[in-house]
Amino acid sequence: MTKEEARQRIAALSEELERHNYNYYILAKPTISDYEFDMKLEELARLEHEFPEFLSPSSPTQRVGGGITKEFKSVKHRYPMLSLSNSYSKEDIEDFINRLKKSIDEDVEFCCELKFDGLSISLQYENGVLARAVTRGDGTQGDDVTTNVKTIRTVPLKLQGDYPPFFEMRGEIVMPYESFDKLNEQRVEAGDDLFANPRNAAAGTLKLQDSKEVARRRLDNYCYYMMMDGLEDHYQTHYESLQAAKKWGFNVSNYMAICKSVEEIFDFINYWDEARHQLPFAIDGIVLKVNSYKQQQALGFTAKSPKWAIAYKFKAEEVETELQSVDFQVGRHGTITPVANLAPVLLAGTTVKRATLNNEDFIRQFDLHYGDTVTVVKGGEIIPKIIGINFDKRQAGALPVEFVKTCPACGAELIQHEGEAAWYCPNAQGCPPQVKGRIEHFISRKAMNIESLGEGKIEFLYDAGLIKNAADLYDLTYDKLFGLSNDKVSFKEKTAQNIIDALEKSKTVPFERVLFALGIRNVGEVVAKTIVAEYHDIDAIMKASVEELSAINTVGEVIAMSVKAFFENPVNLNIVERLKAAGLQFAKAEEPTSDKPQVLAGKTFVVSGVFAHYSRDGIKAAIEAHGGKNSSSISGKTDYVLAGDNMGPEKRKKAEALGVPIISETDFEQMIGSSNQETKRKEDPKQQLSLF
Ligand code: IVH
Repeated sequence: MTKEEARQRIAALSEELERHNYNYYILAKPTISDYEFDMKLEELARLEHEFPEFLSPSSPTQRVGGGITKEFKSVKHRYPMLSLSNSYSKEDIEDFINRLKKSIDEDVEFCCELKFDGLSISLQYENGVLARAVTRGDGTQGDDVTTNVKTIRTVPLKLQGDYPPFFEMRGEIVMPYESFDKLNEQRVEAGDDLFANPRNAAAGTLKLQDSKEVARRRLDNYCYYMMMDGLEDHYQTHYESLQAAKKWGFNVSNYMAICKSVEEIFDFINYWDEARHQLPFAIDGIVLKVNSYKQQQALGFTAKSPKWAIAYKFKAEEVETELQSVDFQVGRHGTITPVANLAPVLLAGTTVKRATLNNEDFIRQFDLHYGDTVTVVKGGEIIPKIIGINFDKRQAGALPVEFVKTCPACGAELIQHEGEAAWYCPNAQGCPPQVKGRIEHFISRKAMNIESLGEGKIEFLYDAGLIKNAADLYDLTYDKLFGLSNDKVSFKEKTAQNIIDALEKSKTVPFERVLFALGIRNVGEVVAKTIVAEYHDIDAIMKASVEELSAINTVGEVIAMSVKAFFENPVNLNIVERLKAAGLQFAKAEEPTSDKPQVLAGKTFVVSGVFAHYSRDGIKAAIEAHGGKNSSSISGKTDYVLAGDNMGPEKRKKAEALGVPIISETDFEQMIGSSNQETKRKEDPKQQLSLF
């Protein structure tokens, strides 16, 4: 294929894929199969890889993510991002309309819209291409999150039709319930804290450094306001401008209505107060906007909000129900969590039967009694929690809820750590839910990912006396498994063989995930990765002091002490020894040998910022290819800090304080001489290839 042919094919494929994306995500009317779409996307990625000079920042391949944002650049908004004043009743809305009527003596039409419960975003377009996406921040300046926003399928990267050359689109980034539930399920498995609601999850996601992870989490965007100098010369109304924007490729809600009276407005509000439970994303109210731009201009703004718009907030849904009993659950670290069993009740569209009671302090604070009538709300409309008690309905002779003194599972006397509200069962090795919980964590997807074993099978094997810890899994054989069964599980030929195969395969799982799988308290997936980046093998980690471990960036003393305590326990040491003997990875994989001159041998680098000729992974690979080592945190052992644009100020301060030389990309290129041509690429080719 000639260069010119490649350029034309890339342009045609990009245009076609963006159109299919629009048909699928905005119109919900796909015209080709997912398979055909993937094939075209693959072809485009392949061509862009072969002809990187034609890779455009708005190419559909950019939606899979790959770019890393070290620090989000703070950007000043061209038009300040204001908020809306709130209203909660019909009277508030009537007051709002009466206020308007004082300034405008003609009929006023309102555009009624959903109030999306996410975070607002400013999307700036230049000649039909998404140039920048900025968060609200303090309203005057926000963070540039363009790399992450590009992964959102409902944000057009390139517009179609007769769009204006420069304008800004305001909208809301939301996490649909489906993505939210999936994300929280994964976090349970990984032992990470759960997001309380889709808004927090969307905000957390948008600030991730790794845009590939943002792409995976499937955010959505709804646009609700256009901004441009002289906008009112092109469109008379807000509604009209949004309908035009929809044609250019923006995701504009279909659920809008033009209302002329308080009654019509309230029909819309009441309808959505009910119907919102059927929406695939959260809304927390309705927004009313004066539709005519001329009238909007006449009304103007206060310092904080437009005078031509108001938000009506729905009441947080709450419901009363009876507290029937309390379960005390034992986690894998022995923490006892009280959980309320409630008389089933319908709340925000789902039946609620249980609510968390957090800890003993929570029960005391409410002076909870069995049979109490409690008020339950959904935290951010999702996780039910008890927010109050109706004391008038307390039955005479009701018994107070007492926190258990002994473990409900094994009978051990509970203990409390100083300064903590939680109670723990100290019988780590003999308490069944703790033992099973640790093994379940060990096999979970982000740990050893032994898919063919699950909760039911672990329970069965534990009850059958075949496993008491993770190391016992590797003593299982086909003969031991085959033929075992109870009323829930049965180990037939295929099941038994799958388990043995999966255990064998798990022996190649990299060290950082093995470390996470061990289930050390406070050591989640990210911390495990950070520790492994610093230490070559498990012996080095075991030897490290609390001071050394806490010196690692983001580790800190609490985590360091957990690690130390874990490896001081002979039971854990024995498990680690047995897992080692079984052949699991307890050291970092050997670095591939390099044909480059090893001019950086013995030198440790910390890379920070953004580089002109390399991706971050690319520059790290170049360091290693020349014999150097990478580290994530600056310490006395660091030889050089390699600084790109936007290097973090904290890193700079630390390097200066420790007297570590800070070198530039050019200094680095001089250090490695001219042997760097193959590793030197603006975009890491791996980022493109990983599409396949
Ligand atoms: S209009 C000047 N429309 O609500 C225009 N905002 O409490 C101001 N929001 O910061 C925004 N849905 O994040 C508008 N249909 C909608 C909205 C909406 C959600 C958010 C937005 C804003 C906040 C104000």
